[in-house]
Amino acid sequence: ETIYLLNGPNLNLLGQRQPEIYGYDTLDDVESACRALLPDGLELMAFQSNHEGALIDTIHAARQDGCAIVINPGAFTHTSVAILDALNAFEGIVIEVHLSNVHKRETFRHHSYVSLRADGVIAGLGIEGYAAAIRHILRQLGTDD
Ligand code: DQA
Repeated sequence: ETIYLLNGPNLNLLGQRQPEIYGYDTLDDVESACRALLPDGLELMAFQSNHEGALIDTIHAARQDGCAIVINPGAFTHTSVAILDALNAFEGIVIEVHLSNVHKRETFRHHSYVSLRADGVIAGLGIEGYAAAIRHILRQLGTDD
């Protein structure tokens, strides 16, 4: 089975873009930190896109072999009914992650469409939020021993 780690627009620039907000770690660092947590028999499918449709296609792919999705939808968090609809067609665990504490920022970042589906939401823990999401999923799946 597979855990999908999905990152939306501009997160390919992690480590370079507004590091005072998002930190200096890169998306590669995030993906390898998450992969290192997985026990044998669980795969990580890491995917980043700046394109809404590509993220939706990958959420659809998760319907086949995905047991959980960890998603940082970037700015699509605040705009995308289509990503919400795709996640509503997925039956596994969904955890929404934001590097920054979106609630401490501009009011347009306070609303999330994705939160209407997410089983858990993590914001403001930086890249540790992704690892926390994975650890939570492993506990839920009973594979953390
Ligand atoms: C973000 C917060 C969003 O508001 C923003 O558009 C991002 C990143 C975060 O990880 O803090 O691109 O999702």
